[in-house]
Amino acid sequence: MYTAGAGSKIKKRHLHLTEEIMNEFPCMGNECMTGTSLDVRQEIMAVEIPKLAKEASLKAIEEWGQPKSNITHLVVTTLSCLDLPGVDHHLSKLLGLKATVRRFGLYNHGCYAGGSALRLAKDIAENNAGARVLVVSSEMSSINIFTGPSEDYLEPLVCQALFSDGASALIVGSDPDTSSGENPIFEIVSAYQTLFPDSDYDISGVWRQVGAIARLSKHVPDLVASNIEECLKEAFTPFGISDWNSLFWIVHPGGPRVLSQIELKLGLKENKMEATYKILSEYGNVLGACLYFAMDEMRKKSIKEAQSTTGEGLEWGVAFGFGPGLTVETLVLRSFPINMATEK
Ligand SMILES: CC(C)(COP(=O)(O)OP(=O)(O)OC[C@H]1O[C@@H](n2cnc3c(N)ncnc32)[C@H](O)[C@@H]1OP(=O)(O)O)[C@@H](O)C(=O)NCCC(=O)NCCS
Repeated sequence: MYTAGAGSKIKKRHLHLTEEIMNEFPCMGNECMTGTSLDVRQEIMAVEIPKLAKEASLKAIEEWGQPKSNITHLVVTTLSCLDLPGVDHHLSKLLGLKATVRRFGLYNHGCYAGGSALRLAKDIAENNAGARVLVVSSEMSSINIFTGPSEDYLEPLVCQALFSDGASALIVGSDPDTSSGENPIFEIVSAYQTLFPDSDYDISGVWRQVGAIARLSKHVPDLVASNIEECLKEAFTPFGISDWNSLFWIVHPGGPRVLSQIELKLGLKENKMEATYKILSEYGNVLGACLYFAMDEMRKKSIKEAQSTTGEGLEWGVAFGFGPGLTVETLVLRSFPINMATEK
């Protein structure tokens, strides 16, 4: 299983939550915490989420360098748009994919969706000879309520500070056809999903007339950090790997405290999460989409630093997605050698 065109991304911080929009639709502001703005939000999302997804997909397909008729499957993730037919349907039409493309919509998974989509794409590609799966994640934070700060109710402020807008796309397949120019970036060796104990509502969300209300408890960083080593052990014991510093690291950029607590708990070296921190600081938490941003950053950073592989010169790596449940997606990755002669 390999990825190509990894993480080709479109990133737009708070694309639609502008002053103009707030003036046009006052119901999206804090004075209407009891009001009804879901209609307005959903109407914006129904148009913009597929468009954003299309932009990212076209970039990924261009880098992949193959005709879009070679795409056999489409996996789309979003929690920002729930209309039917789904974003997978609209995106397929916007891209002009074949009517026989087999579509999957992973809706409402939240921040772990990036990992889920890769796990699904891997299974599809390994069980359908010649499959090429276009994986796309598209999110906009304006589906969420927007309120002013309140000392008694910090959660919306935390979400507003962290969440952002963007889309990313990549192609997953088996047996890369290098003769026709397919240029693999990472191998997905194995993929796991784990539910952490006693954390059902520490990351959660509800849909109400005021918009989507995301909830992050202050226990999330500790919960993730204290359970994550079990995920690593399950995933890497089969390969005889137990030194977590021997891996390259790609983590869903959920929040700074989550990353720092993982580093602390596992004794990771200072620069292990450089690619992830860069994405978090520049683009924020773009839910499922930003895992692919971080993958993209990892390979670009590796090329820029003239490393020997797409994983900072290392062979084995890990990618983590986490979100409501608490659900964690763990992907065992292998890098590919970088051929500086052919890299753009
Ligand atoms: C929110 C965050 C960015 C703030 O970072 P920070 O500025 O370094 O501040 P701290 O983590 O020390 O928290 C500052 C205060 O906010 C409180 N706080 C942190 N997260 C909170 C939350 N989700 N809800 C309510 N209060 C919260 C802390 O308890 C602390 O309060 P105190 O000063 O009374 O002890 C950081 O805590 C973070 O990354 N949290 C994880 C976010 C998350 O869950 N992401 C997952 C999404 S998938």
